[in-house]
Amino acid sequence: MTNNLSQHMGRAAVIDDLLKTSPIPNLMDRISGLDQPGGDPRLKQIVGRVVGDLFKTIEEFDVTPAEFWSAVSYLTALGQSNEGGLLAAGLGFEHFLDLRFDEKERQAGLAGGTPRTIEGPLWLADAPMEKGSARLDQDPEVGEVLFMHGQVRDTDGNPVPHAIVDVWHANTKGGYSFFDTSQSPYNLRRQIETDAEGRYRFRSILPAGYGCPPDGPTQALLTAIGRHGNRPAHVHFFVSAPGYRKLTTQINIAGDEYLHDDFAFATRDELIPGVTRNEDPDAMRENGLNGPFTEIQFDFAIHRETASVPDTVVVRDHAKAA
Ligand SMILES: [Fe+2]
Repeated sequence: MTNNLSQHMGRAAVIDDLLKTSPIPNLMDRISGLDQPGGDPRLKQIVGRVVGDLFKTIEEFDVTPAEFWSAVSYLTALGQSNEGGLLAAGLGFEHFLDLRFDEKERQAGLAGGTPRTIEGPLWLADAPMEKGSARLDQDPEVGEVLFMHGQVRDTDGNPVPHAIVDVWHANTKGGYSFFDTSQSPYNLRRQIETDAEGRYRFRSILPAGYGCPPDGPTQALLTAIGRHGNRPAHVHFFVSAPGYRKLTTQINIAGDEYLHDDFAFATRDELIPGVTRNEDPDAMRENGLNGPFTEIQFDFAIHRETASVPDTVVVRDHAKAA
């Protein structure tokens, strides 16, 4: 046994003894409601585990009362600033949930689909629906024009017609419409129904990467532990169709300085498509442009619904425009 491990085991025993000798009988059972008939049995188990683990953390690190109450203040500020979803991404929880989905699919023999990655906290329900192709940039913002197109297929390579490609991304300043009220509602957000060959296409502007709000609690914690809060430029997608597992993913724009240093751990090698800058005058004219533009081709492969693995539709609070 290493010295550290024996010290750790020693501390764990100390906290177990502390709890057992507490003058309040059955303290942990009472805290988690296990001694009560009502309530949710699963929640009782989880509350008991989380509180017990935090008690052990306090004991192991000899956390002072001042440190404990600063953590309580921090959680209060986190809720008041509505940054819970952002911190969940920054501390790797959202990526961890993805890894668990991956493992369950691997165990069930599912292979070959486009990799998932985190949704993040900035999706907005009910973006305008278009058939086949769409233009996402509705605000008069100057940016490099992006054409992105591809096909939605099943994992056997068959096209999936009438799939919904729900796409959202940041503007050139790294802001998302609705959350960034300087943009019009649904700017850079659309739902695109694939055509009879499963194809989708959109015109937009190249997004910029972005960072956590600099004065918010997420960035405050990251700074305190020596981390940055930046994400590389990316485009988010939900891809869904009746009878198929919903895919939540993103593509990254190659060349970004944070491409492999995302504070939210969302980059995956298969999600970095080639980016082509087109400077051909004929191509510009054909597309009604008078400057170079960027093209990305990216196909999505989605799995058929399978009863043996958990549903990929994630229930969480979402923003909704009035
Ligand atoms: Fe994002």
